[in-house]
Amino acid sequence: MFELVYCSVAKSNLTSQDIQDILETSKKFNSDNQITGCLLYHDHEFLQVLEGDQQVVQDLFISIKKDLRHFNVILLAEGEKESRTFAKWSMAYLELNANEIQKHGFIKDLKAFSQLADKPTHAIDLFWTMAVHILND
Ligand SMILES: Cc1cc2nc3c(=O)[nH]c(=O)nc-3n(C[C@H](O)[C@H](O)[C@H](O)COP(=O)(O)O)c2cc1C
Repeated sequence: MFELVYCSVAKSNLTSQDIQDILETSKKFNSDNQITGCLLYHDHEFLQVLEGDQQVVQDLFISIKKDLRHFNVILLAEGEKESRTFAKWSMAYLELNANEIQKHGFIKDLKAFSQLADKPTHAIDLFWTMAVHILND
């Protein structure tokens, strides 16, 4: 199993329709190609983890990097791991605004959640660390 984590900045006029379109494409392509993962969106920043076959994940990342709905795409970590972290999700999606974060004590929960993973890998650890960083900003 191969995993890849990156972050990016959404184009300034990104709409909720853009997000819906991304999720629709992702759910179809990812489930057809055994890709799973999680996409976090907060205050114009994306953070995504992709897991699956190495070739498929890396080819998908090449398409994602060319996507004009975001820019400054930075690869944070990639590597092999034993099993999926988001096995049930063709693309889990989390979008948070400041109110929701406060209301749910979400940052605290995220930190706790990140420690629940069976075999935390460097990339997943980085994913949650970055998630907390983005949400705290
Ligand atoms: C932040 C972000 C995340 C994306 N995640 C995925 C994904 O997980 N799976 C997917 O198939 N497309 C995803 N896309 C869409 C791809 O960038 C691209 O539109 C899709 O691969 C189709 O590319 P093509 O038109 O070159 O075939 C994402 C786009 C953005 C902006």
